Amino acid sequence: MEIVVYGHPVLRQKSEPVKEIDGKLKKIIDQMAETMYKAKGLGLAANQVAIPQRFFIIDIAQKEGKPKLEVYINPVILEAEGSTVYEEGCLSIPGYYAKVERYEKIFIKAYDLDGKEFERELTGLHAIAFQHEYDHIEGILFIDRLSPLKQRLFKKWWKKHGKKQSQS
Ligand code: CO
Repeated sequence: MEIVVYGHPVLRQKSEPVKEIDGKLKKIIDQMAETMYKAKGLGLAANQVAIPQRFFIIDIAQKEGKPKLEVYINPVILEAEGSTVYEEGCLSIPGYYAKVERYEKIFIKAYDLDGKEFERELTGLHAIAFQHEYDHIEGILFIDRLSPLKQRLFKKWWKKHGKKQSQS
């Protein structure tokens, strides 16, 4: 699958709820996982592969060499608390990294690939990755969470470096 990059309108679209969790969706998620692992990303949202629907995958365990894929379909953040700062990157903004403030701890619900609803508390990098991906399906990118000055610097950076990277 091809990952769309900054400037593509699908990244700015608020994604639609998933209506059916079926074999077709499973196949798409398999392909997304392959794409994410190949690109060495911690997460990938459906609209990053041009599917404007509310689901994403995360794997923060692959860093320790023990991949464990997590699938979140029609996710909702129920509660959030605390704050933490982490240097984030994004497969749709290749090469750019910046510190972003997020909630430290979140309590979420979502559906899994069997169509079962589950609830989970996430903390640390896990919570950060979830919030980053959740933003994607809302049409928000991590650079939107930077200060106005840093956003201007990003735009300059992208003109110089980003467009070239995305064409290669
Ligand atoms: Co991203």
